Amino acid sequence: MRLRSAAKLLSLVILSVGLITMFIFLTRAQSPRQKEKPKGPWMDKSLSPDKRADLVIGQMTLDEKISLLHGGGWKELLGGPDTLPTRSLGGAGFIPGIPRLGIPDLQMSDAAVGVARGAVFGRYATALPSGVSEASSWDLQVARDYGALIGSELRDLGFNMSLGGGINLTREPRNGRIFEYKGEDPILAGKMVGAEVKAEQEQGVIGDIKHYALNDQESGRTFANVKIDTRAMRESDLLAFEIGVKESGVGAVMCSYNLLNGDYACENKYLLTDVLKKDFGFQGFVVSDWGATHSTTKAALAGLDMEMPGNEHFGDALKKAVENGEVLMSRLDDMLHRILRTEFAVGLFDNPPGRKVPDIFAGFRVAQRVAEQGTVLLKNANGQLPLQALSIKTIAVIGSHADIAVLSGGGSAQVDPPGGNAVPTPSGTAPFFGGVVWFPSSPLKTIRAKALNAKVEYNAGTDPASAAGLAKGSDVAIVFVNQPASEGGDAPNLSLPENQDQLVSAVAAANPHTIVVLETGGPVTMPWIDSVSAVLEAWYPGIKGADAIANILFGDVNPSAKLPLTFAKSEVDLPHPMLTMQPPPGPGDMRPFFPDAPSKENSRRFDIVYDEGLKVGYKWYDAEGKEPLFPFGYGLSYTTYAYSALKVTPGQAPAVTFTVKNTGARGGAEVAQVYVALPQADGEPFKRLVAWEKVQLAPGEAKTVALTLDPHYLSIFTADKSAWELVPGDYKVLVGGSSRETPLMGTFRVKGGR
Ligand code: BGC
Repeated sequence: MRLRSAAKLLSLVILSVGLITMFIFLTRAQSPRQKEKPKGPWMDKSLSPDKRADLVIGQMTLDEKISLLHGGGWKELLGGPDTLPTRSLGGAGFIPGIPRLGIPDLQMSDAAVGVARGAVFGRYATALPSGVSEASSWDLQVARDYGALIGSELRDLGFNMSLGGGINLTREPRNGRIFEYKGEDPILAGKMVGAEVKAEQEQGVIGDIKHYALNDQESGRTFANVKIDTRAMRESDLLAFEIGVKESGVGAVMCSYNLLNGDYACENKYLLTDVLKKDFGFQGFVVSDWGATHSTTKAALAGLDMEMPGNEHFGDALKKAVENGEVLMSRLDDMLHRILRTEFAVGLFDNPPGRKVPDIFAGFRVAQRVAEQGTVLLKNANGQLPLQALSIKTIAVIGSHADIAVLSGGGSAQVDPPGGNAVPTPSGTAPFFGGVVWFPSSPLKTIRAKALNAKVEYNAGTDPASAAGLAKGSDVAIVFVNQPASEGGDAPNLSLPENQDQLVSAVAAANPHTIVVLETGGPVTMPWIDSVSAVLEAWYPGIKGADAIANILFGDVNPSAKLPLTFAKSEVDLPHPMLTMQPPPGPGDMRPFFPDAPSKENSRRFDIVYDEGLKVGYKWYDAEGKEPLFPFGYGLSYTTYAYSALKVTPGQAPAVTFTVKNTGARGGAEVAQVYVALPQADGEPFKRLVAWEKVQLAPGEAKTVALTLDPHYLSIFTADKSAWELVPGDYKVLVGGSSRETPLMGTFRVKGGR
């Protein structure tokens, strides 16, 4: 009896200790403001975010106002846990809130392809496939899943603001950050980022779209001056932002490092106020890229609302500028209004993030689905793929650490791999942020798991002759090749680095059944293309990359992705055959982490003249009559599709219907694309993508696709009127499965005289 009650007592003690520990853990894990129940009329949820923002601003002192407009320095990024301000969670940025008013801390994390930089804090987050892979799906549901996952993991880890959503167009295909972005077309990129960020914000975290604008290469990014004319930028890069901002209701836009037509982007009135805030109707706030603020009054009056990560210009200097009347209190209140109305609208006050371990398996599922939907089949001669899992006897897997890993993109988008870098010795061209990072996802294992009757052997591919030796005696050779890329630098050219072209050629010479799997951040050239039988572009495929690749190689998933950017045959065909980079790179080229590096940039300034204008990507190839290696919108499937019965009905928003039929023996999804060529008077000798739909089709099935064309996407931007215009005349409609394969053609006329 006594023993029983002693045991009972003991379990009670254990339970209480457990509960107390859990209580301490949970309360410590939350920032102080979450413990205090915020009071004040602005906590009334029935009021509009604008009203609530005004009410709370009305209670703030000047010092409190200034404190919300800048970060505390570079510590968040450079230091480890010990160097952080008390409440910072160690994301890329932190702005302390104001507990007396219930204003939450702003905890920002980079999150372009998942929540970044967790390792030093012992945090796990899903490493998603790169943004360019997401864009290759052309699937708004994929974009929503991508954004929702990032949003929910940010919350789980305690963050309430994302620094993701990169959307700079692939104007310069050597750009080191293409992997973070969504390709070369403004409508595709804008819609994908719009869907992603909307879903992210629905999780209760502030989203961000960046880098505004025309930061289309990394070389000289902090001091290069981009020159481009108004119409060209409005119809290309800025159109992507316009669509993204409008479709998502995004809370933050990050202005970029570079100058645009003579002014730094973060103090460029045309960009920030005239276009973003007035024309696009953006109600959120403009946050500077890290170290991209260069002035106080000029920046504040141009439309910058928040300096990050430091306080050089928007700390005491801004207070002084307000006190001496250079910046009016009304503008200061506008900055705060934009930040606080966003915090209310997204739910930061009412529904602050909790803290828990992210659902790893949910993350895996999204990561794998995105990779499967985003991997592009570029070549498949004689039905080489899919491989017959059970009849195949020998497979050579070659190169790119495919025995243990898949490649990651680097820089601020880096999601740390669980368990550390899968290839611990930095290999390959070291991108700026450190060595090349690999995720523990082994294609060798997933291939072995499919080909149960086969002998699957691995060769590192470092010696082409030995790799060819293994390939020679195998039924098929699967060569993995890679191109590392990172923020902070561009690729010197479009070639695969480290003799990988020679490797592919040697293997292909030894085995007629050579399949190449590319893990690249952007387009590369393929001098060996005619000698291999199949090519898959897997991009940086994320933590479940190996599973996705094997599912496609063996036909468990029928590829449906299409290229969101053009692959050139050679650099000679690019608008700028040489990367614009004068003077040669030096320390000032780097991200301004290092206090003594970039402020002395002026002497190094150079122009990047975008005289190709709005002819970005496929528009350039069309206008110049050049043949790409693989065109925009292109991607194969294991089945085939036929297009028929195009009907175009003119009107305010012209309607297009057509039929797509699956003419093969496998179910699949076709991304049916609608392009429009404008009347000649518009001076645009190329077509534009204006609509698309991804159609799921069983074998033999046909579906009618009905799409309405948004008149905005058919319009041109008339600079002297500063307005979009739908020009009267004949419009040609082209429909098909890629920008260079449009079997259906129709026309509609827009009436009126000009
Ligand atoms: C990058 C941004 C990033 C920021 C914070 C900058 O160098 O350009 O994309 O969000 O750092 O890490």
